[in-house]
Amino acid sequence: MANQISEELIEQIRNANDIVDVIGEYVQLKKQGRNYFGLCPFHGEKSPSFSVTQEKQIFHCFGCGKGGNVVTFLMEMESFSFFEAINHLAERSSIELPSNAMKQESTLSKESQQVLSAHEWLTKLYHHLIRYTKDGKTGFEYLQDRGITIEAIDTFQLGFAPNTKDFIATFLQKKGFHEQMLVKYGLLIRSQDDTVTDRFRGRVIFPIRNHLGKTVAFGARAMEGMEPKYLNSPETDLFQKGKILYNFDLAKKHIRKQNEVVLFEGYMDVISSHQAGVPNGVATMGTALTETQAKLLRRYAETVIICYDGDNAGIEATYKASKLLLQLGCQVKIANLKNNLDPDSFIKEFGGEAFKREIIEASQTFMSFYMRYLKREYNLSLEGDRIKYLEEVLKELAKLESSVEREFYVKELSAEYNISVDSLLEEVNQYRQKSGSDKDKREKDRYTNKVKMSSGKLLPAFHNAERQLLAYMLQNRSIADKVQEEVGISFNIDDHKIIATHLYAYYEEDNPEDVSIFIDRITDEKIRKLVIELALIPTQTDISDKEINDYIQTILNESSTGVSIKQLKEEQRLAEQQQDPIKAAQIALKIIELQRQVKHLN
Ligand code: GTP
Ligand code: MN
Repeated sequence: MANQISEELIEQIRNANDIVDVIGEYVQLKKQGRNYFGLCPFHGEKSPSFSVTQEKQIFHCFGCGKGGNVVTFLMEMESFSFFEAINHLAERSSIELPSNAMKQESTLSKESQQVLSAHEWLTKLYHHLIRYTKDGKTGFEYLQDRGITIEAIDTFQLGFAPNTKDFIATFLQKKGFHEQMLVKYGLLIRSQDDTVTDRFRGRVIFPIRNHLGKTVAFGARAMEGMEPKYLNSPETDLFQKGKILYNFDLAKKHIRKQNEVVLFEGYMDVISSHQAGVPNGVATMGTALTETQAKLLRRYAETVIICYDGDNAGIEATYKASKLLLQLGCQVKIANLKNNLDPDSFIKEFGGEAFKREIIEASQTFMSFYMRYLKREYNLSLEGDRIKYLEEVLKELAKLESSVEREFYVKELSAEYNISVDSLLEEVNQYRQKSGSDKDKREKDRYTNKVKMSSGKLLPAFHNAERQLLAYMLQNRSIADKVQEEVGISFNIDDHKIIATHLYAYYEEDNPEDVSIFIDRITDEKIRKLVIELALIPTQTDISDKEINDYIQTILNESSTGVSIKQLKEEQRLAEQQQDPIKAAQIALKIIELQRQVKHLN
């Protein structure tokens, strides 16, 4: 296969696509120092160890070790071939490729390409029918009746499948698509007499797009009174309900911008909310939220607002989805729809503005929801039930990291149940102690899903000094040189010794001040993780020599050997001056030993 895109054009395309923007379409990135960090899309994690360096246009995951540039990222992420990645980037930056370059081999099978093409044709056809023809009038009126605007019909490419036996069958066969494939992907049905007919008939069509905006399936809603209400395409290799979220492709830029996503139960909710000025909504497709979907959301946004129906089933589903999302480190909020309303019907009754302000923006914390959720199980006029209820609530409260939040709810409970704040807090604290093992603590730290360092305050001064110093050394070669001279490997913490040794060697080989490159040399997982932790310690840009010297002194004071090579050399010089060759030789041996240790660690 000849490479029909010139090197220059590839370079131009690369330059037109900043790696931070491209990866930012998949991961919520936050700037930390010179790098951007986020949750790695290639392996599951709760705290960010995935970094993107704008200067160097590379990414690197400190957790799983994946790394590369903007093209390899897309190849990895989308299973693109090199040319598909370049093609995607060219489209993204509106750079025209020579027409012969389009025909490069695809990683998709022939069948998948055919299926996508059939879905694309059908999306256009259904949409055309509803917008411009008599055949689609029923559907158009139905949507108008439900308050869906023309703008939304166009944005979501909504369509109508006429109630005809083989309208679609004829259309697709004329285009040369294989009957068998169309049946397999649920666009046509084979009858007993072996003829094929349209599967979707007399229904409003919701094209289901994957994250790249390609239609991979259809949802089809019956007109009032027909059953089943919704008919979806069957699950296939291109469409798996548990992996896809409706409207994710259009919502994702809003999700990233707002760092917030609204999760709905149905297509109509997403579309009505979009009309109400909530563009960051997605929906599952008639199934419970799966872990894959939850992880996807987590990667894009910190906060998930669950906006399910206000009925019992909706409340149960909300609880289940919350648990899953909380476990993954999301901040969960709950939109409180009363009176068994769903978002779409709320909007119809009270308007989009009210929906946005009173439901979405006023969504509750998980805790408030949980209290409401639990209440349904108890008869709170009975003392026994009240106590059990309170215990359950306090247990959940104990899991909250913020003492302000804990106190807030305790006060609320105190007022409501006439129990003193003190005794409620005491109970909460008991639950906290019970679950307060170190491991739990660490888990809970992650619960808040911030990049967190081990708390500086609790460490002894020398330990902190070593961490601080290493953080500076990772960013600054001259500080590293100075420390090499004056501290050498007299770090007190073994892991720090190892890192320092690697770093000295790294700079000696004239490598750049760049932690994402440095990390490539470190094979030990534990050390790697520590390096990233250190690299994320906030540092000052204009650290004074005095501060650096203070750190150095703190380290040396603690050090068992207590001396650096520099100090030994100084002593050696003095011994020579004092004409004490034996002492000088002893010191020389010590120096060699220290140097040997440095080498050995390397
Ligand atoms: P409308 O009645 O059009 O407002 O639908 P809705 O969006 O309120 O849907 P509902 O709350 O009834 O269901 C939520 C989602 O579940 C829908 O968007 C569909 O994806 C799915 N669903 C609902 N009913 C059916 C059904 O009969 N069959 C299938 N396969 N899915 C359904
Ligand atoms: Mn509805």
